[in-house]
Amino acid sequence: MAHDKISLMEDSWKILEEYHIDEDLGFALPNPLEELPHDYDAWIFIAKNLPELIENGQLRAEVEKIPLLSIDELQGHKSQRLAHLVLGYITMAYVWDRGDGDVRKVLPSNIAIPYCKLSEKLGLPPILCYADCVLANWKKKDPSGPMTYDNMDILFSFPGEDCSKGFFLVSLLVEIAASPAIKAIPIILSAVKQQDQDTLQKALLDVVFSLKEALRVFQEIHEYVDPKLFFNVLRIYLSGWKGNPQLSEGLLYEGVWDTSRKYAGGSAAQSSIFQSLDILLGIEQIAGGGPAAEFLQDMRTYMPPAHQDFLRFLETGPSVREFVVSKDDAGLQETFDQCVEALVSLRSYHLQIVTKYIVIPASQKPRENEMAEEPTGQENRGTGGTDIMNFLKTVRNTTKKSFLKDR
Ligand code: HEM
Repeated sequence: MAHDKISLMEDSWKILEEYHIDEDLGFALPNPLEELPHDYDAWIFIAKNLPELIENGQLRAEVEKIPLLSIDELQGHKSQRLAHLVLGYITMAYVWDRGDGDVRKVLPSNIAIPYCKLSEKLGLPPILCYADCVLANWKKKDPSGPMTYDNMDILFSFPGEDCSKGFFLVSLLVEIAASPAIKAIPIILSAVKQQDQDTLQKALLDVVFSLKEALRVFQEIHEYVDPKLFFNVLRIYLSGWKGNPQLSEGLLYEGVWDTSRKYAGGSAAQSSIFQSLDILLGIEQIAGGGPAAEFLQDMRTYMPPAHQDFLRFLETGPSVREFVVSKDDAGLQETFDQCVEALVSLRSYHLQIVTKYIVIPASQKPRENEMAEEPTGQENRGTGGTDIMNFLKTVRNTTKKSFLKDR
């Protein structure tokens, strides 16, 4: 028995390793690099000084001066992830600059060429995505200290004071709080295969505890992120060029493609946590089709390839739901429903957050500034370009419909 348990743990670790999931940090990149080789000092200088360069009106001229650099000196995954993060910040700043509507529709070749080559290598899109600004954009202040907000910082900032730090770090801490739920997945799948109801129920309880902790951490957003700064400043820099009337054709990556390309902006919808748990619990967000399903499917293409593979692996795994339904075990079924409940609670809370940080500031915007332009409908769109409330309610309602027993 003890031997079985050890081999179960070993198999679980192998699965996590294969899909680049860290035992303690889940999908977050462990200890991201903070420095690139000196060849890339020009990139780092701009990324480190973005708010000042934008404020002084120098950002675009500085970007245009950067020499065309080869990506060959970027050896290793962490160095490439840091460079992707840096080029993502530079690109967002170049396109949106002061966020006052003066946008650039062409990314110059000195940035576009290395950025697209690197993106291809990493299997990530050439736009700042969640895998960059949240998963790979952090450090501990005291390396031997805990992973807490007070002991952490982000590597690069956008204008808007501490707003980017608050938004990116709280998102990261939610990811990490939810990581025991991801760590439980291989154990759950193996327990189903072996028809081991006890182990299954314990691992499902780990999912419940972990998601409750994630919800607790999520609530810290109020302390660290100001709604006005989020809505009026940070949201602009995270906006993409897909479904965005300001760049209706997309962005032209000069020297790479002859036509403009459309990419969605950075959003926590690109986190693999919720999509993994949906698949695990048989919550059919994608199978039913429709705009919400298409959006979630599209968001997968913004995740690191190993994490996309993990979602595909889950889709081909045994159905936990069918197994639980097939057993006449009220306790097991109740625990399964607690997992669904925990996801519903997170999504309901997320809806409140979106109301506070997007819907309410959007409704106040014209009144604060008499001269403000007519609302374009873009205000109520997420950085990923969705009609947000309809989308989020659809996703939450699909989760609600997935209880085994009516609540
Ligand atoms: C100020 C805080 C936040 C705001 C304003 C916000 C806003 C949004 C918006 C507008 C969307 C719709 C998709 C889009 O167009 O981008 C979305 C989706 C999503 N967000 Fe957030 N978000 C916040 C924080 C978070 C955090 C901390 C997480 C968890 C790490 C999260 C997880 C998700 C997920 C998973 C989706 C996809 C829908 C779903 O699966 O339920 N969000 N968010």
